[in-house]
Amino acid sequence: MPVSKNFPYEKLIFFATENVNKFNEVRRILAEYGISVAMIKVKTLEIQDDDIEKIARISALNAYRETNLPIVVEDAGLFIETLKGFPGPYSSYVYRTIGLNGILKLLENVENRKAYFKSVVSFCEPNGVVRSFQGIVYGEITREVRGEGGFGFDPIFKPYEEPNKTFGEMTIEEKNKFSHRAKAFRRFAEWYRSVYIS
Ligand code: IMP
Repeated sequence: MPVSKNFPYEKLIFFATENVNKFNEVRRILAEYGISVAMIKVKTLEIQDDDIEKIARISALNAYRETNLPIVVEDAGLFIETLKGFPGPYSSYVYRTIGLNGILKLLENVENRKAYFKSVVSFCEPNGVVRSFQGIVYGEITREVRGEGGFGFDPIFKPYEEPNKTFGEMTIEEKNKFSHRAKAFRRFAEWYRSVYIS
């Protein structure tokens, strides 16, 4: 496939985020595919919606229109089964308000602790077509806060693949073996490499 003249830096892409933890995870994943990534702060319109895929898609379109760069955006959330998927698309607000202890309180004396993280990565091509890639990690909410690493809900989530550790107790490399973000970005990277890297 030809490399678009609009995308002269095909091995360098931009990640629109203000979250340096996310950036540090993503930088390592994309490096596995020979793709470098730069963190960029773009004032994108982040719509409020129940569907994180729609949020990511619209942010990607806006970010591309603002910058004309090969730019990737991500939207993610924590979905707790017994709370019917809450906080989901409202994860960032819930984290800032009731926080980890608020979630543990909501699940006090609750046996069903099943939850998943979902990430949607979206990329707008020069012709305005947005490609989206999804990753999910299933696991459980712990009964206490565990670990100093990571960010957000990491210290209360343990993936089924490594049930002895929360994401907050893992190194970035360990979290990247299992995480929703790693899965979504690997899918994106496979696609991006096949289309844009000759
Ligand atoms: P965002 O809107 O994609 O930045 O993510 C919303 C919120 O979900 C973040 O503020 C975090 O609280 C939470 N979140 C998303 N991904 C993760 C993760 O990998 N670990 C822990 N919390 C996360």
